[in-house]
Amino acid sequence: MKHLIDPMDLSKVEIDEILALAQDIIGNREKYQDVMAHKKLATLFYEPSTRTRLSFTSAMMELGGNVLGFADARSSSVSKGETVQDTVRVVGCFADVIAMRHHIEGAQLYASEVSKVPIINAGDGSHSHPTQTLTDLLTITRELGHIDGITIGFCGDLKFGRTVHSLIKALSRYKDVKVVLIAPDELKLPDYIKQDVCDRLGISYKEVKTMEEVMPELDVLYMTRVQQERFLDMDEFDRVKDSFVLDSKKMSLAKDKMAVLHPLPRVNEILTEVDADPRAAYFRQVENGKFVRMALIYKLLEWKDKAGGTASQCIEAASEPSLSGLRCTNPKCICNNENAPARFVRTSGGTLRCYYCDSKIK
Ligand code: NCD
Repeated sequence: MKHLIDPMDLSKVEIDEILALAQDIIGNREKYQDVMAHKKLATLFYEPSTRTRLSFTSAMMELGGNVLGFADARSSSVSKGETVQDTVRVVGCFADVIAMRHHIEGAQLYASEVSKVPIINAGDGSHSHPTQTLTDLLTITRELGHIDGITIGFCGDLKFGRTVHSLIKALSRYKDVKVVLIAPDELKLPDYIKQDVCDRLGISYKEVKTMEEVMPELDVLYMTRVQQERFLDMDEFDRVKDSFVLDSKKMSLAKDKMAVLHPLPRVNEILTEVDADPRAAYFRQVENGKFVRMALIYKLLEWKDKAGGTASQCIEAASEPSLSGLRCTNPKCICNNENAPARFVRTSGGTLRCYYCDSKIK
């Protein structure tokens, strides 16, 4: 069965199929209005969300299907101590597909191991957010006409921003993409993305200190919110929260066709004066999110019998004597929150990483 846990679970051909279907849905809404009749989507949201949950809900409704689920885990059996694996076993008896958001990294991957219906990762901690990635890819395609060859600047919280991590991974599927990283030292892109994605898959990247010095080069500027809820030290949050603010003056340095994306919600990293600029694509991006989720739900149910599996090959710690006793040390990983086994992946550079959350094993 095919789940969408990590953006690399989708091949380039599959991404293209989803984006093409989304474009067809945009042009022919009536054709798709009943295709999910009698099908149900469960939205299991263990972490706050407005856009993503409502976008999934609206997507399934526009396909003629039904939606059930919870927006607050405190109202579910989770509050009685149920594990994510048990929850999806149960919900799989009621729904044809599950969209899950969780604050614990790797929760959806662990849940997918026992699920009898496709699981869609709607965001796991600071780790991944593959449906936002599909939204971003559709938006870039619609705004610029192509993804190959773009120069994209990521600005803001590149450390905790899961949308950034997932989009960079997916961009490795495209040709000649150049990435510019604009972040304060405290919020730099994690090493695993730099080494295992950019270096290994050949995405060229550079790190810069100011927006101004790169604005004229960019085809896409991807702004992000500083993720307050992921900080352990609030003084550090206060120091970095207003590091980069996009205003009309900075926009005047950019190309006429540059597109500004933001997964939203914004706090104050884009001044509202930018909203009227035709290059501000972030509200169009929200609508693209609904169309791409319609396409994804349709495709996952069509691919239900296709062999799936996840992107990485895992090594059971228990099967290799040299790994015995090693564990993931990320406190936010599913391994340290539920009874997930110690499982690792070895990257081509030889680094051992947690199978569930990608943290380096020390
Ligand atoms: C993002 C998320 O949840 O990671 N929002 C979204 O899904 N559209 C970005 C954010 O919360 O800053």
